[in-house]
Amino acid sequence: MAGFKTLDDIGAVSGKRVLVRVDLNVPVADGKVTDATRIERIGPTIAELSKKGAKVILLAHFGRPKDGPSDEFSLEPIARATADVLGRPVGFAADCIGAKAADAVAAMKDGDVLLLENTRFHKAEEKNELAFTEQLAANGDIYVNDAFSAAHRAHASTEGLAHHLPAYAGRTMQAELDALEKGLGDPVRPVVAIVGGAKVSTKIDLLMNLVKKVDALVIGGGMANTFLAARGTDVGKSLCEHDLAGTAKQIMIEAAEAGCAIILPADGVVAKEFKAGAASETVAISDVPADGMILDVGAKTVQSVNDWIDRAATLVWNGPLGAFEIEPFDRATVAAAKHAAARTKEGKLVSVAGGGDTVAALNHAGVADDFTYVSTAGGAFLEWMEGKPLPGVEVLKR
Ligand code: 3PG
Ligand code: MG
Repeated sequence: MAGFKTLDDIGAVSGKRVLVRVDLNVPVADGKVTDATRIERIGPTIAELSKKGAKVILLAHFGRPKDGPSDEFSLEPIARATADVLGRPVGFAADCIGAKAADAVAAMKDGDVLLLENTRFHKAEEKNELAFTEQLAANGDIYVNDAFSAAHRAHASTEGLAHHLPAYAGRTMQAELDALEKGLGDPVRPVVAIVGGAKVSTKIDLLMNLVKKVDALVIGGGMANTFLAARGTDVGKSLCEHDLAGTAKQIMIEAAEAGCAIILPADGVVAKEFKAGAASETVAISDVPADGMILDVGAKTVQSVNDWIDRAATLVWNGPLGAFEIEPFDRATVAAAKHAAARTKEGKLVSVAGGGDTVAALNHAGVADDFTYVSTAGGAFLEWMEGKPLPGVEVLKR
């Protein structure tokens, strides 16, 4: 892969201690991992290094612990889940630096896999402190970063280590960077972006960047209401950031200047309450009742989104079109996702999706496997869509 050193460049690793930064920040409920996608994704890198006889030492964070070690944020249960999911033994050490880590590493045989405790149990991790980075580096000969989804953090384990050890992108990082390059870096045109989700305020930079890069931008979800209102459409009781009308207008102006079409909902599914199974009707977007809330885009809008998908060679998707987590307001998201998946399967579309709720929405639609690439990254995917350099990626460049 151009620009990055990957496992293809790593040379002989037999007997070497390879520190692999992975993202094990997985959702857990009642002590069980509820979505193991991130664990599955690190499988190839671990298997490849282990097979070549490396001592594979995993570094990861879990949650956002504030006050040092705690059971709540321990990676120990995640080590067991990782062993289950990957079908291989995964050892665990109760600290990522110091004697506990060093002893566990010293006891490893070639090919073994060991997970070190949550790097964020040390404040120095997030501060990317030199002394801490050196303590981490003491347990390794080589550094591999396979955690794109944490690459927006300039932490010791995501950025600092690459200055101390020979550094390589793991297979998942490599796949992610490849897919992102196809999505916005050097895409086949026309490029269409679908951006949804609740709020404009969290996605201003992203929208400003996209209008300069894509040929058409579909805006859905709650954030579309802010654009509709800015244009003078009455959105009733819908979620809407009225104070961002000026920002929305500015984004529409920049889009016009850049030749990017903006597609806003032409109709909406409205209800009086935000709850599953609430009575709803589809109305033209100019006819939203004063006491109604738009909770999804309507069938006409879906048709126009699908037409844009048909015209597109590349699709970048972030955020659902409606309140997909409650029925029946999942319909537009499911329909457009299925359409994009079908076009992808026919070989007519490169589809890249990621960020927060997007993976959950595509899983809900049952099509996540049919997209060209679905990123497990949340914040890192958004920052990439904003056009910002990611510290954990920059440091891996040749
Ligand atoms: C994520 O879950 O998005 C990544 O693991 C990064 O976690 P953070 O937002 O706590 O840095
Ligand atoms: Mg996050």
